[in-house]
Amino acid sequence: MNRSEFLKLAFGASAGIVAFRSFGFSPSQAEGPFKLAPLPFDAGALEPHIDKMTMEIHHGKHHKAYVDNLNKAVAGTDMAKMDIEALVKSVNAGTPAAVRNNAGGHWNHTFFWNILGPSGGAPKGALADAINKKFGSFDNFKTEWGKAATARFGSGWVWLIKNGNDIEITSTPNQDNPLMALAEKKGTPVLGLDVWEHAYYLKYQNRRPEYVTAFWNVVDWNKVGKNFG
Ligand SMILES: [Fe+2]
Repeated sequence: MNRSEFLKLAFGASAGIVAFRSFGFSPSQAEGPFKLAPLPFDAGALEPHIDKMTMEIHHGKHHKAYVDNLNKAVAGTDMAKMDIEALVKSVNAGTPAAVRNNAGGHWNHTFFWNILGPSGGAPKGALADAINKKFGSFDNFKTEWGKAATARFGSGWVWLIKNGNDIEITSTPNQDNPLMALAEKKGTPVLGLDVWEHAYYLKYQNRRPEYVTAFWNVVDWNKVGKNFG
């Protein structure tokens, strides 16, 4: 079965055509300062928790589209000279929506790929201590995380953020993140979860809680621990 046939099966014939178009099946990357890095692991490495096709589409189509559209949005402006983190931090209410959405999309997905891995397990060291202090236990932390993930209406992200020695769970709509100047709750992301349907629909359909539970099998706690510092 090729991808087009799969999408027709998954979404129905007419929706399949729409999905095919929205994934932007163009082979080349748009010119510009921002680049799509390869996934730091094989696309099938997170199976069965996150399937290979979802990873290929999520990275190669969705993330790529954020990068391409960001390059278009900043073309000819001073923003084209900024690194992605500085650009994301600068996002405020006056920032053009195309920059806000696509800079956030690029930063968020890059961050997400780099906290994932086939390892699973549990937090260690100072991060484990901080989680136990704040939430009582890792299990309680996972419960609170699940509540935030299911409470986020529509598309968005769930975050564990750090402010000094304090950590907390927060969530953002669309491709916003806690680094942005306009974020209601700011902090440095330590862990993040994409709860857009494109992150889980092929395998989990509307069952976001199952995807959120499966996520714990593919968190690389060594990398998350480094984000905590
Ligand atoms: Fe995503």
